[in-house]
Amino acid sequence: MKILLTGSAGQLGHALRQKVPEGIELIATSRTELDLADASACRAAVLEHRPDWVLNGGAYTTVDKAESEPELALAVNGGAPRAFAEALLESSGRLLQVSTDFVFNGQQGSPYRPEQSRDPLGVYGATKAAGEEAVEEVLGGSGRGVILRTSWVVGPVGKNFALTMLRLHRERQQIGVVEDQVGCPTSTATLAMACWRAMAGIDTSIGLPAVLHWSGAGAASWYDVAIAVGELAQELGLLEQPAVVNPLTSAEDPLPAQRPSYSLLDCSGSRRVLELAPTPWRQALR
Ligand SMILES: NC(=O)c1ccc[n+]([C@@H]2O[C@H](COP(=O)([O-])OP(=O)(O)OC[C@H]3O[C@@H](n4cnc5c(N)ncnc54)[C@H](OP(=O)(O)O)[C@@H]3O)[C@@H](O)[C@H]2O)c1
Repeated sequence: MKILLTGSAGQLGHALRQKVPEGIELIATSRTELDLADASACRAAVLEHRPDWVLNGGAYTTVDKAESEPELALAVNGGAPRAFAEALLESSGRLLQVSTDFVFNGQQGSPYRPEQSRDPLGVYGATKAAGEEAVEEVLGGSGRGVILRTSWVVGPVGKNFALTMLRLHRERQQIGVVEDQVGCPTSTATLAMACWRAMAGIDTSIGLPAVLHWSGAGAASWYDVAIAVGELAQELGLLEQPAVVNPLTSAEDPLPAQRPSYSLLDCSGSRRVLELAPTPWRQALR
């Protein structure tokens, strides 16, 4: 099976490359090989390689910067999935489009189910929602487009909240972290496993659901995660003494982009389909 991966230098891309299942020919592309802002290059890559799947793990992910670069964010997060979908329609391949809990507004107070309507709050969420819409519009009828939403991705490399907190625990005595945004961390290792399972580990000829949800199990605020990073780092000998973590409200820590206040994803159906057990977020963080 041939898979064209985008975003291979990112957090998810790194984890995917760590454990490539047997029988997979992986064409891993980073920004230098394939610019996701260039729709015609995306189309050409599919028609050149004719992969069984495009795994679009690359994205414009800087949530706050997206507020001042909406055109670029839309080209990458909306334009690339559309270009992949259109080319895959021609080449008969499939698309696994990685997406985000930020397509929801976070106001319902219970976990979001895959079929619920999108209502993003900021530019990043809106551009990821545009990517989802493009996949549904172009490949929906063929059943060859799958959207996999995840949340709060953390892994050992790249930029993520856990690594930032680890650094701050080392550098400071006090850290202020918001406690009124609740979601669930997802380890890159389990996310990569869910991606591989969706593409190569189960019989996809019977069809996958159009939308999958994948995150760790349980719920946490960013404040909870910051505390857990300090505790786990101390246990693991990465840190002598954690900093004191002070809870903040989002109003006390204003950022350019508004974030959903409650964005848990209901992963129950995906766990059944992918035959994967839930990993408690703290265990995954460790
Ligand atoms: N991180 C999260 O908390 C989170 C939460 C929910 C969903 N997601 C989704 O999960 C997926 C993987 O996220 P991640 O955490 O692995 O993100 P990441 O570490 O930021 O990786 C994204 C990758 O996309 C690449 N990229 C950005 N613009 C590009 C362009 N114009 N052309 C080619 N490549 C480009 C980046 O390249 P450079 O390295 O060169 O910048 C980076 O390697 C994304 O679809 C994201 O939207 C992430």
